[in-house]
Amino acid sequence: MNRVFLAGAAVLLCAALGHAVASEHDANDAKPQYSGDKLVRPEGYREWIYLSSGLGMNYSPSAMGPELFTNVFVAPWAYREFVATGKWPEKSIFVVEDREAQTKGSINRTGHFQTDRVGMAVEVKDSARFPDKWAYFGFGNDDKLSAAAPKAACWQCHEDHAAVEHSFVQFYPTLKPIGQKFGTYHEHREASAAH
Ligand code: HEC
Repeated sequence: MNRVFLAGAAVLLCAALGHAVASEHDANDAKPQYSGDKLVRPEGYREWIYLSSGLGMNYSPSAMGPELFTNVFVAPWAYREFVATGKWPEKSIFVVEDREAQTKGSINRTGHFQTDRVGMAVEVKDSARFPDKWAYFGFGNDDKLSAAAPKAACWQCHEDHAAVEHSFVQFYPTLKPIGQKFGTYHEHREASAAH
């Protein structure tokens, strides 16, 4: 009797612990979530692995606006696969968020710091869903869902110029040596773009 009770208690305890562990690891396991044919905005990405920031990077001749910071994040489980293999696994998900840059504020006198988010873009590797394997989504601050962007808007530039598969590893200083070590880094794609 006692043993049965203990076994039952152990099962309940494990279930409770399992639940706690699962929610704690949500950010680690982040995968693309869809609603119909749209991507659901990934919420917890600030707890993913941080790859790098750009300031005022401008790779599109027509884009002229205030200089923004771009902060890039990738799901932790996908990052670990990349570190082990130099390749991105299926269901990899990346976020680049755009934040305004400010100079005057508090004690700051020169340089720039980051302020409000003005938007974010998401990239997924999901060949089960997208024949072109990689797909791209833009989110305004209030958007919860986004349809995949047309191929010409995002996919093509990543195809032509990203150094590892579709990811711009040439701009992520800790990933670049890993891609080079595994031979997945395409040096020629690092060359400056001829538009
Ligand atoms: C003209 C080239 C170009 C186009 C078009 C483009 N990107 Fe990118 N993308 C880049 C570069 C360069 C980076 C490197 C990081 C940065 O800008 O801070 C990047 C980085 C990213 C990242 C971070 C992960 C990675 O691949 O390195 C995401 C996510 C992303 N872009 C999404 C998009 C989406 C969504 C669109 C279309 C709305 C888009 N991009 C259009 C050049 C482009």
